[in-house]
Amino acid sequence: MRQPDLPSAYHLVSLETVDSTNAEARRLAALGEDKAPDGTLIWAKEQTDGRGRRGRKWSSPPGNLYCSLVLRPDVAVAKAAEFGFIAALAVFDVLGTLGEPGHKVQCKWPNDVLLNDKKVAGILLETETDADGHADWVILGLGLNVGIFPGDTDFPATSLRAEGVGATEVDCLDSFCRHFLKWTSAWLEEGFAPIRKNWLWRCIGQGEEIEVRLDKETLTGVFTDLDEDGALLLKTEDGERRITAGDVFFASTD
Ligand code: BTN
Repeated sequence: MRQPDLPSAYHLVSLETVDSTNAEARRLAALGEDKAPDGTLIWAKEQTDGRGRRGRKWSSPPGNLYCSLVLRPDVAVAKAAEFGFIAALAVFDVLGTLGEPGHKVQCKWPNDVLLNDKKVAGILLETETDADGHADWVILGLGLNVGIFPGDTDFPATSLRAEGVGATEVDCLDSFCRHFLKWTSAWLEEGFAPIRKNWLWRCIGQGEEIEVRLDKETLTGVFTDLDEDGALLLKTEDGERRITAGDVFFASTD
């Protein structure tokens, strides 16, 4: 496998195997900015304890892309969620760059990316906050199914290979890093507004009835909008609900 060719903003830590690149990124970030400056990128060929959102496992055999970025933005922790949308836009562009004409690529709230209606990538954000509610660091983990996908997921999954895309993990890593820098620049210059607008252009389900599974309840309603903080706005029979964490399903994917 060739070596990644990354912009100088990234500091690559390349591992054969690790429990979780997010866990490793957290360990490094906790050692301080000298050891893990902004842009530190942990990349592993496999994970033995890959983590997904909402306490789930992320199946991580060799053959897919597993990486986590240490970010040290000067923002309140509430803004950290915006990185998930930045990353989803970057993955969308990876698929646009490396994928095939005619493929359908969509962003799915909160931070998934679908290829031909099936989940191909997931993003896991973890933050450490100081006493003032400032984000000490943000860990952005990306799992992209390049060669393999799990068969036992609530939402259907796929991989690039299954959809006929021949790109490698390294091709995807290089492309993601470039597109992530580009979208981060837009965010630094103009804030969340262009990210939100571009994400909405590329998302699945806006204006449609969806089901949102929360920890203790399941809601049905129309996905009307994304608010300025990235929360999903759902118009239900009982009024509008603002949702910050949950899993979205569509009529055809139940
Ligand atoms: C999701 O549930 O959709 C998010 C999945 C995130 C998986 C990635 S793989 C690299 C990084 N390390 C982890 O343990 N999880 C994230």
